[in-house]
Amino acid sequence: MYRPEKVQAYLTSISESRSPVEDALKRNIFKYGLWLLGIPAIIYGAIDRGVAAFSGPVFDVTDVSYCLIGLVILLGWVCIGLAEDHSDGTILKAAQSIDSAIAPASEYIAQQTYRLPFPYLCQVYHLLNVQHLEDIHRFSLGNLKVVKVSDFQATQEGGKIRFETMLDSPFNVLRMWRNPVVEVELTIHSPHQIELKVPTYGQKFIRVLFNVLPLNDKEHHLSIQLFSNLAWPKELLKAILIVASSLTLLEDLPYLNHLARRNYDRLFSQTSEKRRSSQAMQLFHRYADLYNGSWKYRQMQLLDN
Ligand SMILES: [Fe+2]
Repeated sequence: MYRPEKVQAYLTSISESRSPVEDALKRNIFKYGLWLLGIPAIIYGAIDRGVAAFSGPVFDVTDVSYCLIGLVILLGWVCIGLAEDHSDGTILKAAQSIDSAIAPASEYIAQQTYRLPFPYLCQVYHLLNVQHLEDIHRFSLGNLKVVKVSDFQATQEGGKIRFETMLDSPFNVLRMWRNPVVEVELTIHSPHQIELKVPTYGQKFIRVLFNVLPLNDKEHHLSIQLFSNLAWPKELLKAILIVASSLTLLEDLPYLNHLARRNYDRLFSQTSEKRRSSQAMQLFHRYADLYNGSWKYRQMQLLDN
């Protein structure tokens, strides 16, 4: 049946200009994705010339030189990598002062900073909503399941929640790094810093520090700092983690937009019955108890600096 309002909504959505953040994220995925694809392409070329050099009755010096050139290019490609884009130009003071206390500088991999057109509290709600990993990141996390919340601890500055996650598909690409079932930690370090710690094979970790700073009542800065103690080439790890974080943030944009349209103040004042029924939101409720009354004051303080 013809639905003029649906047609109008569709026309409006395709005529709206894309946000600069969306463009920056797509550019990141393209740039780092292309760099990653270059590695198997160069390896293939080098192996192909190497095999050709030894397969004929006569040893082919030209093919050997092509193979060696390919290997040298591969070495340079991986070691030099890609420069990080600091076009935003924003270095967050809070991020700089806190990160060394939580993750050693030797484990630093990369940092990405974005100015997002959503209220700061929407970002906090999104980060502390464990369940959204299943619903919103179904594509990037390959149908990851949040099985249960196994532990919750309140701390002076915030709290920590541990929850079990499961990769039920044998083809999930995340199995390259982690066991199918692992306990992930989500920690509030301060009103502006939240950490996600994912265990990988061999007692190693990938840590993601989210630094969220309000700019005004409609915008905030999000800085994503990536740390890992995995013994992989750093440039390779950087490209993979930046592609992954850009993809997940791209998936988050419609969700943040949806939260911004809701009365998010209401999210911070839920009844105790509703709270008890939602174990996955315990950390968010802890944040609301600690910081709800003072967030507007802090926001003004930050704007004054
Ligand atoms: Fe998300």
